[in-house]
Amino acid sequence: MTLDEIDKIKEEGLRECDAVKTLPELEAVRIKYIGRNGFLPQIMKGLKDVSPDERSEYGRIANEFKNRVGSALDLKKAELAAGGAANGESTFDYSMPGIWRGLGAKHPISSIIEETIRIFGRLGFTVAEGPDVETGYHNFEALNTPAHHPSLDNTDTFWLETGELLRTQTSPVQIRVMEGRKPPVRIITPGRCYRRDTTDATHSANFHQVEGLYVDRNVSLADLKGTLAYFAREMMGPGVDVRFRPHFFPFTEPSVEADFTCHVCGGKGCRVCKNSGWIEIAGAGMVDPRVFKKVGYDSEEFTGYAFGMGIERIAMIKYGINDIRFLYENDARFLQQFV
Ligand code: PHE
Repeated sequence: MTLDEIDKIKEEGLRECDAVKTLPELEAVRIKYIGRNGFLPQIMKGLKDVSPDERSEYGRIANEFKNRVGSALDLKKAELAAGGAANGESTFDYSMPGIWRGLGAKHPISSIIEETIRIFGRLGFTVAEGPDVETGYHNFEALNTPAHHPSLDNTDTFWLETGELLRTQTSPVQIRVMEGRKPPVRIITPGRCYRRDTTDATHSANFHQVEGLYVDRNVSLADLKGTLAYFAREMMGPGVDVRFRPHFFPFTEPSVEADFTCHVCGGKGCRVCKNSGWIEIAGAGMVDPRVFKKVGYDSEEFTGYAFGMGIERIAMIKYGINDIRFLYENDARFLQQFV
């Protein structure tokens, strides 16, 4: 093949490349010019018949053929792919195998919150929410917690520069709801709480509670016990019972701590319940008249109960999780177990 002939084939190739409109057409041009049985190998083969003094020029022309046609093909390919996409034609390769991302699962905290909402929903409770950034008034003062109470300390509560704080409990939502409506009130409020606790197997500086509040005429401690017992059985299983132990909270009187029968041993005593047969679940009590006074409710006419439970605690007990930190690390090996 003469140098002129090579040049002519090259020009022809560039023209053909320029003219194609589709990727398959382009592929045909590629095969014709630089494919295994195309012009390029023929040109290369011709090198050995060229006289020694013309050999370097022949090599240069052959190289130029390869580079020019090759890059024209590459350019055209990119252009066709991009053009197709721009015209709304898909350049997606439907024959490619997909990428398996794995199946996600609901986080145990979310599951417990949703289940809690369903259970109390059947009893007529609706969901109320309040802000994570609270005023000292809603988080403490309106809840009859005096300013000298240790829970107000910097060592316990995250105070903000604005004078507000990150709520240490969901109880301030009680205040906000009662400020906004007249009895009867029957709400639960799930949400995040914040305390300056050092993280360990059972503590976290950011955890979740669900608060319950029921205010009406003639609400009694017996109603509270019946409601919590219903919740206990629905959440943990039949045969789970509730007991009250006297306790103190500034905003309830009387106050109790509510324990559920240990669902692992059925109350006989095991490692989970530290051999007591009971597991502490909630703080609760009858709303203190001083709280009603703050929100303008008449405590002669209305009574009410309130309770607050730790969501993490319920999740850990129900699913047998022995370290609260598992709930925050989002380790797929942990979460996978809840698929
Ligand atoms: N807010 C209390 C706590 O965080 C729990 C509680 C709620 C107690 C409602 C009584 C009534 O410990």
